[in-house]
Amino acid sequence: MGENFPYHVAIIMDGNGRWAKQQGKNRTYGHYIGSNVVDRIVEAAIDEGVRYLTLYTFSTENWKRPKSEIRFLMVLLKKQLVKKRDLFLKKNVRFGVIGEIDSFDEQIRENIEGLIEATQNNTGLRVNLALNYGGRYEIVRAARQIAEEVKRGDIDPNQIDEGLFARYLYAHDIPDVDLLIRTGGEKRVSNFLLWQISYAEFVFVDKYWPEFTRDDLRAAIEEFKRRKRRFGGL
Ligand code: IPE
Ligand code: IPE
Ligand code: MG
Repeated sequence: MGENFPYHVAIIMDGNGRWAKQQGKNRTYGHYIGSNVVDRIVEAAIDEGVRYLTLYTFSTENWKRPKSEIRFLMVLLKKQLVKKRDLFLKKNVRFGVIGEIDSFDEQIRENIEGLIEATQNNTGLRVNLALNYGGRYEIVRAARQIAEEVKRGDIDPNQIDEGLFARYLYAHDIPDVDLLIRTGGEKRVSNFLLWQISYAEFVFVDKYWPEFTRDDLRAAIEEFKRRKRRFGGL
């Protein structure tokens, strides 16, 4: 596949609510359809040769939404964690999570752990869901853990470099993002993967997430391949 390929694709799956409104439905209907779109994009990512897929599913800021929408999202998440099991096993997907899952109820946490365990020996695509995830918090959390180790005398401050710091992030065994896709038309990062996107290529798609197709993923990858990444060099 060569060097110019996005091994790590991260997606901000935005626009569920606006899509549903456009259909004359409640926002929650958009979340439901959006959760099924994840299946076809996982399959497409595998077919394209992507190795890591990180999906922004619920941000630390999303708690600001109305209680009723949050309640729906939690029920949906609980069900999807069970429903995705067959697909992930069939497709050799290894599942993971980034974010503070302590804030979720016990059933969701059990379903998360169950899916991680069921897929832990799979060797194909790694799918990471960002759940109660915030990029700034991830960095603060790492700083706090490193500070604790310094206090204990296990780390000398002079040892702290980018490599060491990155080992304290949620997914320390996953490489930086190559390609960041955002659906829904907004052109912003919304606190997603701040550390890991420092040299990512951005593709903004003017479609709502429920409308996103395999061809859209393929087009984003083709766009990526046409870009010239310089990483500050020439
Ligand atoms: C993304 O869709 C899903 C979540 C943030 C949970 P939105 O719910 O943000 O949909 P829009 O952007 O309001 O249309
Ligand atoms: C980002 O979308 C979060 C997820 C897709 C989970 P938002 O809809 O929360 O982002 P803003 O509010 O438009 O920045
Ligand atoms: Mg949104």
